[in-house]
Amino acid sequence: MIKIFHLTFILLSISSFVGRIILSETHPAILKQKALKIAPHVIDTLLLVSGITLVFQGGWLATEYGWIIAKIIALLGYIGLGVVAMHNRGTVRWAAFVGAMACFVYIGIVAVTKNAFFFF
Ligand code: HEM
Repeated sequence: MIKIFHLTFILLSISSFVGRIILSETHPAILKQKALKIAPHVIDTLLLVSGITLVFQGGWLATEYGWIIAKIIALLGYIGLGVVAMHNRGTVRWAAFVGAMACFVYIGIVAVTKNAFFFF
C-alpha cells in the first residue's frame, strides 16, 4: 500500500517538475499562483516520507542499505538541480534540467536493482 503511495508521489513529482518547466517557458504568469508554489514542496515531502516509511517497513536498515543512502543523496541532487532549473534560464536551466532528470532515472534504477553501482 505504501509502495503505491510512493510510486504515485514519484509520478506526481516528475510530472509537476516537467509541467512547471514547460509553464515557465510558455506561461510564466501562471506559476505565480500560491497553490503552484506550495504543491511541489508538499509532493516532494510526501515522496520522502513514503520512502522513509518503506525503509522501516521493509527493515532495510538491518540489511544492506547503501542503495538507500545513494537514493537520498541523488534525491538531494534532483531537488537541488530542480531549484536551479526553475530559477534560471537558457543554458544553465537546461543543464540543470538534464542533471535533475539523470538523478531521477538513477534513483529509479537504484530502487529496482538495490545496487548503487549497478553500472559496474
Ligand atoms: C525521486 C525519488 C525516488 C524515486 C524515483 C524512487 C523510486 C522507487 C521505485 C521505482 C521503487 C519500486 C522498486 C521496486 O518495487 O522494485 C521504490 C521503492 C522504494 N523506495 Fe524509492 N524512490 C524515490 C525516493 C525514495 C527515498 C527518498 C527513499 C528513502 C528515504 C526511498 C526508499 C524506497 C524503499 C525502501 C523502497 C522499497 C523497496 C522494496 O521494498 O522493494 N525512495 N522507489
